[in-house]
Parts: sequence; structure tokens; C-alpha cells
Amino acid sequence: MKFKINAVASSADTQVNFDKTLKLNTVRFNGNQLNIGLGEDAPTAKTLKKLALSLAQTANQFNLSALFLPALEVDDFVGIVTQAMANNDYQVQKVDLETPEANTLQSVSFAEGEQNSIDKAVAIASGMALSRTLGDMPSNVCTPTYLAETAQALAQEFGLECEVLEESDMSALGMGSLLSVSKGSIEPPKLISLSYTGNGTAKPIVLVGKGVTFDSGGISLKPGTGMDEMKYDMCGAAGVLGVMRAVAEMKPKVNLTIVVPTVENMPAHNASKPGDVVTSMSGKTIEILNTDAEGRLILCDALTYVAKFNPAVVIDTATLTGAVIVALGKHHCGVMANDQALADDLITAGKTALDTAWQLPLDDEYDELLKSNFADMGNIGGREAGTVTAACFLSRFTKDYRWAHIDIAGTAWVSGAKKGATGRPVPLLTQYVLNQI
Ligand code: BES
Ligand code: MN
Ligand code: ZN
Repeated sequence: MKFKINAVASSADTQVNFDKTLKLNTVRFNGNQLNIGLGEDAPTAKTLKKLALSLAQTANQFNLSALFLPALEVDDFVGIVTQAMANNDYQVQKVDLETPEANTLQSVSFAEGEQNSIDKAVAIASGMALSRTLGDMPSNVCTPTYLAETAQALAQEFGLECEVLEESDMSALGMGSLLSVSKGSIEPPKLISLSYTGNGTAKPIVLVGKGVTFDSGGISLKPGTGMDEMKYDMCGAAGVLGVMRAVAEMKPKVNLTIVVPTVENMPAHNASKPGDVVTSMSGKTIEILNTDAEGRLILCDALTYVAKFNPAVVIDTATLTGAVIVALGKHHCGVMANDQALADDLITAGKTALDTAWQLPLDDEYDELLKSNFADMGNIGGREAGTVTAACFLSRFTKDYRWAHIDIAGTAWVSGAKKGATGRPVPLLTQYVLNQI
């Protein structure tokens, strides 16, 4: 991050007054004073987050270099504002071009607040910035190899343990499902593990992130319109790398391992075809009815693999189904779990972090839709409840531990004029990890 945020400051170049008499979100600038209206009532945390973002944008618009903020009675006022300010500092890295003009804002100061909340918010924002940077990168730059190099660089910077499995290693482990996705691409697949040890020999929290660096659909090719957005199909991977960065910066007393199965899903003469049957690392066989349901094919082998870490809990996050956007839109992540307490903990963490998730059911009735005449299961369940049947597929590989799945297909990036990665679910997952201390 380019600018400083201070916990307590008595003065600054410019003051921002939260003027209670003005309407919400009205911003006035006179001389060196910016007046922000809040309306009559104290804002909610959610409103404050939006307000802080527009404040940061306005500050840049007026070329302000410093902000001084009085106290406001909202829980974690300092943290929310800090995170919004820091997030606004994110800039897309353009290939072979200079990074555009930096924000003018150099410092933000609070009349009162805890350095702790600032450090936490800055760490989360730094994880989100990593996640957004990777997400926004084109897939000809951000390949599985690039993600592996990113993990190795993080390991170097923070003294983490990193292991990268190559195609031959995965083949020896019997990961026929994962490799059936990557085989149609020239980009070699990778299976990345990265561990932070802050609590001795305690069982680790294991986060698994879907890392499809481009999802063309494979032989079940996607339509052309909007296909560029399938560069974002590695946002689960970017998210767990972001969480690792945030946690490594904060150094809490927990053990955290992230695992990233990463591939490119392409059509080719040697790509998987509908009707092909593959054997996963678990020994279960899968009939690939649709090569575009590839996320679950790489995740199932990763979910079998993670048993070796003796996890306290396993949470995977993936841009897994378009159906979750139909169900929940672009506001909540979808959460499903084989353990209700874990689902509840994630939902609670999401509320605290203002990065919310909503639960969908995981009943046996849905699981029956995965029946196949030619293998232990098909890789799709049909048109109905696509998000749930995808999770049912994964749940067949997670029987031995507490597990939850977070579908971020609707929340990891925004489309349209402001197209870009959001950094979600880094806040939710980091908060969950911190809540386990
Ligand atoms: N990466 C997609 C899911 C996706 C689609 C995310 C659109 C964001 C926007 C995933 O691999 C996929 O293609 N899923 C299919 C599953 C279907 C073939 C059962 C889908 O959602 O259409
Ligand atoms: Mn797909
Ligand atoms: Zn996909």
C-alpha cells in the first residue's frame, strides 16, 4: 500500500467532518474541508463501508493528500474505513504498460482508534490486493506455472513451507480426475501447497482454492460472449493465496495450509470428451458428461489429497457454478457444508468481515442426481439446483473430515464497465481463521 494510516493523530492537512445535518452520501468541499453527510441516524457497518469508499474516491478527485477522521459510533469504525481506503488504492497492472497515476491520498488519520484494527485491516487489504491482481491478470500471463511461482515467492517472503507437485507427481498419486482436465492444454498443471505454522503441532485449517486459469469449457465449449471473464476462474486460488498473505502478515497463533489445484481447461484433439470415464485419486470413477463441469474434477482430487495434512477442517472456495448467480446474485457467496457448526462459523465470520455468505442445502435427494450408468458418478446433476449438485459431488470426497464449500462464482469479480476482481472471499476466510485462535 502506498499511503500511511495512523491510529491517533491530533491534526492533519485536511479535515473531514461527518456533518450530521447533510443527507447520506452528499459530499461538499470548501477550501480545505470536506463535509460528508450521514443523515440523522448513525450509519450501519455496511453503509460506512460504502461511505468510506466514496470518501476515498472523493479525496482523490479533489487531489487531497491527507484525511483526518473524527470518531464515529460504528463497531470497528477504524477497521472498516482503513480497509475501504486501502482497497481503493488497488490498481490494475496493465501488461507492458506503466501503472496509471497513483492515488493522491498519502495519509489517513483517525481521532481515536486502535493500531491493532488498522494492522488487521491493512493485512486483509493486502491479501485482497494480491487476490485481485491475480484475478485481473490475463490468462496468458497468469498460468498454473505463474500461480506456483506466486506461491513460492510468498513462501520466500514470509518463511512459509511450499510444495509444488508436477504432472508426473500427480499421475503417480492417481489423480486421474484432475489430469483429465489439464490434458487438453499446453500449460502444465500444478498442485500447490503452502503452509504457515503459528501454533506448533496443532491440526491445520486447510483451505483449497479452484485454480482454473482459463475455463473455455473444453470440448463442451462455452459460448463466446463474455468468455474473457473465464480468466477469473482461478479466483478461488487467488482468494486462498490472499488469505495466506493476510495471515502471514498478521502472524496469529494458528496453523494454516492452503492447497491450490491449478489447470487450464481447453478443447484439443487430446482433451477429455463427454462420456469419458476417469478414475480419481480416491479410486471412485467419474463419467465426464460435460467437460465444462471441470472445477469439481480438479477439486475432488485436491480434497482427497488434503487428508495427508490431518486437517482440523477443510474449506474449499471456487467459482464453481453459474447457478449460484441465479440463486443468490452477486451479493452473497453460497456456502454448503457437511457440518452445520462450520457453516454457521463461516456465515458469522462473513457478517463480521462484511463479506457475506448464505447457506444452501446439501440433502441426499440432490446427491441422487449424480447417478451414472457407466461409473460411480457423473460429473453433472442436470439443470436443477446446479450449485447444490456440484457441492454433492464434492461431498463424496470429503467424508473423513469437517468440510465446507464456498461458491464464489457470483462474488469474486464484477462485470460491466467496472469489470474487475473484488478480492472476495479473502475478508470472510481471514476472519474465520482469526476466529479460531
Ligand atoms: N467456471 C464455471 C462456473 C461459472 C460460470 C462461474 C459463469 C462464473 C460465471 C464452471 O466451471 C462451469 O462451467 N460450470 C457449469 C456447470 C455445468 C456444466 C453443470 C455452469 O455453471 O454452467
Ligand atoms: Mn467450466
Ligand atoms: Zn470453471
